[in-house]
Amino acid sequence: METRPVNEAERILVLAPTGRDSSAACALLENAGFLCEPCSDIDDLRRKLESGAGAAILAEEAFFAADLGPLLDWVQSQPPWSDFPFIVLTARRGDPSLHKHTLDLVEKLRNVTLQERPVQTVTLVTAANAALLARRRQYEAARYLVEREQAASRLEELVGERTRQLQEANDQLVAAQDRLRMALEAAQMSTWDLDLSAYEQARSPSRQRLSADAALLPSWIRAIGKKDVVPEDRELFETACRDAFATGKFHLECRIVWHDDSVRWMVAEGRLYQDEQGHPVRLAGTLRDVTERRQIEENLRQTQKLEVIGQLTGGVAHDFNNLLTAVIGNIELAERRTQDDRLLHILHSASAAAERGAKLTSQLLAFGRRQHLAPRVVSLNDLVSSMGDLLLQTIGGAVRVETVLEKDLWPVMIDPTQLELVILNLAINSRDAMPHGGKLTVATKNLGAADPDRPTGLPAGDYVAVSVSDTGTGMAPDVAAKAFEPFFSTKDIGRGTGLGLSQVLGFAQQSGGEVRIDTRFGKGTSVTLLLPRSQQSLPKSVDERSAAPRDGRAATILVVDDDAAVRELTVQALETLNYRVLEADSGRAALGLLRSADPVDLAVIDLVMPVMNGRQLATRIRATDPDRAILFMTGHDDLSEPNAPFANETVIRKPFKVVELAAAVEHALAERDREKPPWNVTPIRAPKLTR
Ligand SMILES: Nc1ncnc2c1ncn2[C@@H]1O[C@H](COP(=O)(O)OP(=O)(O)OP(=O)(O)O)[C@@H](O)[C@H]1O
Ligand SMILES: [Mg+2]
Repeated sequence: METRPVNEAERILVLAPTGRDSSAACALLENAGFLCEPCSDIDDLRRKLESGAGAAILAEEAFFAADLGPLLDWVQSQPPWSDFPFIVLTARRGDPSLHKHTLDLVEKLRNVTLQERPVQTVTLVTAANAALLARRRQYEAARYLVEREQAASRLEELVGERTRQLQEANDQLVAAQDRLRMALEAAQMSTWDLDLSAYEQARSPSRQRLSADAALLPSWIRAIGKKDVVPEDRELFETACRDAFATGKFHLECRIVWHDDSVRWMVAEGRLYQDEQGHPVRLAGTLRDVTERRQIEENLRQTQKLEVIGQLTGGVAHDFNNLLTAVIGNIELAERRTQDDRLLHILHSASAAAERGAKLTSQLLAFGRRQHLAPRVVSLNDLVSSMGDLLLQTIGGAVRVETVLEKDLWPVMIDPTQLELVILNLAINSRDAMPHGGKLTVATKNLGAADPDRPTGLPAGDYVAVSVSDTGTGMAPDVAAKAFEPFFSTKDIGRGTGLGLSQVLGFAQQSGGEVRIDTRFGKGTSVTLLLPRSQQSLPKSVDERSAAPRDGRAATILVVDDDAAVRELTVQALETLNYRVLEADSGRAALGLLRSADPVDLAVIDLVMPVMNGRQLATRIRATDPDRAILFMTGHDDLSEPNAPFANETVIRKPFKVVELAAAVEHALAERDREKPPWNVTPIRAPKLTR
């Protein structure tokens, strides 16, 4: 015996109904170390089998006339691992063949060992031991099965747990992707990913490297989902690729053609990914639209450039103005003093050339925002309507002219004569851009602070827009970028000075507004002036008067100008007009003369003078004599700002003709004697537009 039985599962049940067979067998087996349990009958046997046993020893006669059903049911219902061992003790018979009943039983009980009686003790013990060993192996198999089942269910649990974790990870991934997508959308970004395996093969041997970098472009274009990179920027792409292979980082800022053929500035950032051997396998990154940022930067650069040019131009033009004042005036004086036709002809030519110079100077001053403006409250609709005939004559027959005027247009405070010039300038540009005809539209529009068409970057407030649009050639981006620069022209020499748009810009800015160009090459151009809305209402009717030149009368005029040439000319001109003239080269000298000399009827004062400027001198004069008539001369300074001191004074713009000076003097003297002139008197004749 290998181990002693310790529990019910290893006990041996004994059923021997005759005499003391049962107790004798039990005693014998217990003696051999088995745990034994006698059973009283088949039912008792079944009950004990159900509560557990290692084997059963049954005397054959126990089956006789007994109901075997419950026992056989139990045998049938054993679990798969169990094949319970029975030892059946048979009676010795003369007939060696087994009794049919016993054979039947052997078959039904399945695992049966027959022992013929009388049984040797050692035989019975050996048989019991063998049965118990077999039963133990069955128990082991049962344990193994249980363990397997437990392992299987643990595995199932683990699989369930893992599946749940995977699902969670997947949900997190989807949420992260959603967040990334939203972030990319918010930043106007997209992603791209380029497989480099095919490219790597193309890249070796290394001498093909350059062409291989170029060959990446079509795949990259597909990866970013766009149409192309503009030809000028393709080299930038190749450089970015080479840098990426050298440093691992990809950076590219270039112009990309969209599927609708529009071109936008994009920034691509990316990284190079390598395999374990260090071979590049992927290039991936993001793509961001920076067109607006580039435009803002470009606009700022342009504005700053124009500002600097404007300051320079204004300064130079101011000096030229003084020179031209002297030149034109002296020519005029010379013309008055000669009857010689040949000399007069020469003087006329000189005068015409000087006039052209004066026109250029005034355009430059306009660009430098230093022209003299005579603003008043104006309806742009009236102004545009009144220009109809002029536009038709200027533009010619092949172009259709149309006006689109907004009803109830807000008034603006501008110099109407200058604005007419501006519109005419723009119309001439449009005409030149439509050599084979087309359509010109002059439109007006109210632009409230919340209007979606209102360009960003303008100071707050309401604006009135007046635009001149054509269906002409449009401008290439490099032309549009320079169009406002003075002397930039694409026209033949002699056809364009390149000052038209500069003047338009200067006028708009000096009037508190702005200009916008909207142009597409081959499609047409629209130039829009945005002018601040005036809070003043329009006057009922316009009563324009211009001062007519008249021969001088016995009035005394003091001329104050630090520029000797201009002063001399002015003095001579006034003397020619029969005025009595005093002159001073500074504010101080002027004050001295005013104190000591004869009464002075009118002071003609240059605005720009060193030490004491024209305004300061006028202030001093008016302090002691508030009604003193004053006529200001100006090359570029502007008195027209509303509420500024002297804003309503008469001003003459340099260079001026003798007739203009005469008219201005007349006007200033008349003003002293009469009541104030109406608001709309424009004392200076506007230059005629000549082309
Ligand atoms: N409506 C337009 N369509 C196409 N191009 C234009 C238009 N307006 C201006 N341009 C371009 O801008 C350039 C500058 O215009 P700008 O009016 O300042 O000068 P210009 O017309 O050449 O000369 P100027 O006006 O002094 O006679 C023009 O030469 C032209 O190339
Ligand atoms: Mg022009």
